[in-house]
Amino acid sequence: MSMSSPFDASAWAEQSRLLVERALSEWVPEHASAGLGASMRYAVMGGGKRLRPLLCLAARQSVAALQPPCPPDHREFQDLHHLHALLDQAALRAACAVELIHAYSLVHDDMPCMDNDVLRRGQPTVHVRFGQAQALLCGDALQALAFELLTPESSELQASIQVQLCRLLSSAAGHAGMCGGQAIDLHSVGLHLTRQALEEMHQKKTGALLTASVMMGASCAAPGSLPTGAMAQLGVYAAHLGLAFQVVDDILDVVADTQTLGKTAGKDADMDKPTFVSLLGLGDAKALAQQLHDQAQEALLASHLPQTQALSALAREVIDRPY
Ligand code: IPE
Ligand code: IPE
Ligand code: MG
Ligand code: MG
Ligand code: MG
Repeated sequence: MSMSSPFDASAWAEQSRLLVERALSEWVPEHASAGLGASMRYAVMGGGKRLRPLLCLAARQSVAALQPPCPPDHREFQDLHHLHALLDQAALRAACAVELIHAYSLVHDDMPCMDNDVLRRGQPTVHVRFGQAQALLCGDALQALAFELLTPESSELQASIQVQLCRLLSSAAGHAGMCGGQAIDLHSVGLHLTRQALEEMHQKKTGALLTASVMMGASCAAPGSLPTGAMAQLGVYAAHLGLAFQVVDDILDVVADTQTLGKTAGKDADMDKPTFVSLLGLGDAKALAQQLHDQAQEALLASHLPQTQALSALAREVIDRPY
């Protein structure tokens, strides 16, 4: 995207969503054994805002104009165009990989042993449609597929970037991230959590994957091209955005209806889950989401990256979204 033309956030998002939908449709196998493929596609292809993939692609966009430092041997970076095409492709794979982890986390989150939800993205949940055993396997298989996407056979992409992408995603998905947060969530039913404990739970169960989305996109930068401090500021942006996202999820659970949400409204109170609304009340939870949004935007400015318009627009969308 040229720097001289004004940035059209909704056109960018529409185009990027299309890319992601096409890639997911290509990479999630229809014919996996004994109905597994059908459940995987059902879990992934049935809508969703695709926020995590968009964050990943927006982060790649924020570093796409940066060039590697001129090497002593000019042959190494002779074909800059080819290098950037590889990095764009890696970012698209990373975008889809994080969406697969997210989709798997939703399949398991909805199961009777966790939140026991029957509706997701306006459709019956995977275990309702395919049974619990298949839902379990579906989540497992989506998780494994995510890492296959990050390490394609005979890729020309530098191995160190592939390793970095795997590391970012696995640590965000595992005990120190999403799974850890989900464990706290289940353990906290009926308890009163302090603000600090609630923040930790939200940051892990939701913030970690959102942060990984941003860091993975930014890791698809030309080697050596990132300005000092840019990655750290993107991390600050993502941490605030991630927390804001789950605060808004808590708010929407209270204020939105089931049809708009595509999932059962009022579920958190029903299950006696501690949320930012139960802790702070609706008004203060909304103010907190706005404050986190503002801090995210400040960090973006402080990153001094050249093309942060898409990241900025996505932060706004996290706060303003209807579902
Ligand atoms: C819902 O995530 C689960 C949370 C982490 C709060 P999203 O609101 O991103 O769900 P989809 O992907 O758009 O359905
Ligand atoms: C889900 O949090 C977080 C993950 C799936 C990791 P919630 O349980 O609040 O998400 P919803 O409200 O069911 O989408
Ligand atoms: Mg849950
Ligand atoms: Mg849930
Ligand atoms: Mg929720």
